[in-house]
Amino acid sequence: MTHSLFPIHLLIPLIIIISTTFTIPSPAIAAGGQWQLLQNNIGIVAMHMQLLHNDRVIIFDRTDFGFSNLSLPNGRCRVNPQEQAVKNDCTAHSLEYDVFSNTFRPLFIQTNIWCSSGSVNPNGTLIQTGGFNDGDRSVRTFNPCPNCDWQEFNASLSARRWYATNHKLPDGRQIIIGGRRQFNYEFYPKKDATAKNTYSLPFLVQTNDASAENNLYPFVFLNVDGNLFIFANNRAILFDYNSNKVVKTYPTIPGGDPRSYPSSGSAALLPLRNLQNPLVEAEVMICGGAPKGSYEKTLQGSFIGALNTCGRLKITDPNPSWVMETMPGGRVMSDMILLPNGDVLLINGAAVGSAGWESGRNPVLNPFLYKPNSLVGSRFQLQKPSDIPRMYHSTAVLLRDGRVLVAGSNPHVNYNFTRLFPTELRLEAFSPSYLELGFNDVRPIMVFPAPQSQTKLKYAQKLKVRFQVKATLMKNMVSVTMYAPSFNTHSFSMNQRLLVLDELSSSKNVVGESTSTYQVEVAIPNSPILAPPGYYLLFVVHQEVPSQGVWVQLL
Ligand SMILES: *[C@@H]1O[C@H](CO)[C@@H](O)[C@H](O)[C@H]1NC(C)=O
Ligand SMILES: *[C@@H]1O[C@H](CO)[C@@H](O)[C@H](O)[C@H]1NC(C)=O
Ligand SMILES: *[C@@H]1O[C@H](CO)[C@@H](O)[C@H](O)[C@H]1NC(C)=O
Ligand SMILES: *[C@@H]1O[C@H](CO)[C@@H](O)[C@H](O)[C@H]1NC(C)=O
Repeated sequence: MTHSLFPIHLLIPLIIIISTTFTIPSPAIAAGGQWQLLQNNIGIVAMHMQLLHNDRVIIFDRTDFGFSNLSLPNGRCRVNPQEQAVKNDCTAHSLEYDVFSNTFRPLFIQTNIWCSSGSVNPNGTLIQTGGFNDGDRSVRTFNPCPNCDWQEFNASLSARRWYATNHKLPDGRQIIIGGRRQFNYEFYPKKDATAKNTYSLPFLVQTNDASAENNLYPFVFLNVDGNLFIFANNRAILFDYNSNKVVKTYPTIPGGDPRSYPSSGSAALLPLRNLQNPLVEAEVMICGGAPKGSYEKTLQGSFIGALNTCGRLKITDPNPSWVMETMPGGRVMSDMILLPNGDVLLINGAAVGSAGWESGRNPVLNPFLYKPNSLVGSRFQLQKPSDIPRMYHSTAVLLRDGRVLVAGSNPHVNYNFTRLFPTELRLEAFSPSYLELGFNDVRPIMVFPAPQSQTKLKYAQKLKVRFQVKATLMKNMVSVTMYAPSFNTHSFSMNQRLLVLDELSSSKNVVGESTSTYQVEVAIPNSPILAPPGYYLLFVVHQEVPSQGVWVQLL
């Protein structure tokens, strides 16, 4: 299979033939993808990750944890007499990982960033918000520049934000929703000095289970009508954040079990397409989680099976209803990563228990690949397993080259390495099967926008994308996609968005260029509601195989 020149859709029948002839169990033969250990010890636990437009990933854990395994440079230390773990800590709790050199450098953070949230602003600066204790109202910014470090701004939020969810808005600001015991939201930055500090959100009271909350890190997506889709516990609303009004209440997800923290399922806005159609559709998918009561049961030493269902909801439908599907197995604490070709990767997590310290068992080592447009019943494909459990506080982000960076798991106090699922400092990457060498001939190579140009794009502009393909081009199997990199923590990828751009003219050979150079004209989205301003990765996809992404800035 590795050296096959067949496109993916031709491989499927081949796999079936092989499996029936040799009676190999189908999951084994279907197992796609490759794992690569990148670093044996990055010194900290990747509880939070964000890819920036210089191909560096900002990673951090928490400051009240004891000494990490990564020293701060130049004798720098974090001195805090109030700190309970260590008052004088000369180790780092954040780092910058350079994807293409596979190296990392420590970063300095003073206040506690534990279980926080964030978004990247339109100019590419990471704006991280909240955390715990001395950091719960802090805002920290990270400018992607050589040897830059965090800048911290104490008391910048109106409320403590611990386990909140952020989303970037069409005007480039971000909204920060909820957090423990915070049944409200706020904006960062505030619109002006006279704007209210916080706005109440009773939905977060209604979805707050007495014993386990189950409404933390709500799943938030910017809908194509400008409202926010907010899912917490087992249900969702469509919310107009400008007028503080619930526009629509969606039906409870079938079964009624909770899907948000600590019952941590995951969620993704499926790829948006037909963007020039005024009736563009948006569909949310929510997978896995833990049955009601799971977290409380783990505290008594009882671990019950995670949910094995996903629900899809067309949030733009006038009368939407959930369509349920069954995964190859139960999953809690998984991440849902949109791939450049529109597939969804479910990765990390456990089959039993819930999120929380020592609350998970039976790691699920196989990612599930989900093809949203395949026939029902053949959408899930079991992928090759890793050998590293990725339990509570593990993370995953898509990289520009189409790999998925995977890190973190169980950051115990004192970075304890002797627990059942020890503190995990290894960094690895999952390569979906589209990266196999056998697809080199069908894989597009982006020519324009030029890979290092960081081309600026305007709303509603037409863009002539140029690319090369060695094999014969299948014109009706070309698409151009734009991906918004996410802030990933606690099984949710905030701001993750994949836009399939409308083709204005199909791919054709470029006159005067080699026969393998093609041009396809696409429409850049006409509104910041469809695509909030900022940096995106632009991909050309041919026969489901993506090119490397190219950074573009939409303003
Ligand atoms: C990291 O861990 C190794 C092995 O336990 C230890 O030898 C080393 O001193 C640690 N480094 C730091 C900076 O803590
Ligand atoms: C981007 O925004 C941040 C936060 O507002 C600011 O500190 C930084 O200087 C800006 N960078 C550029 C290049 O404009
Ligand atoms: C922010 O708060 C931390 C922790 O309380 C403190 O150490 C630091 O000096 C403060 N920074 C500023 C600029 O006030
Ligand atoms: C690690 O956890 C084990 C089991 O709870 C405990 O016995 C040990 O003292 C811990 N080690 C550290 C360094 O905290």
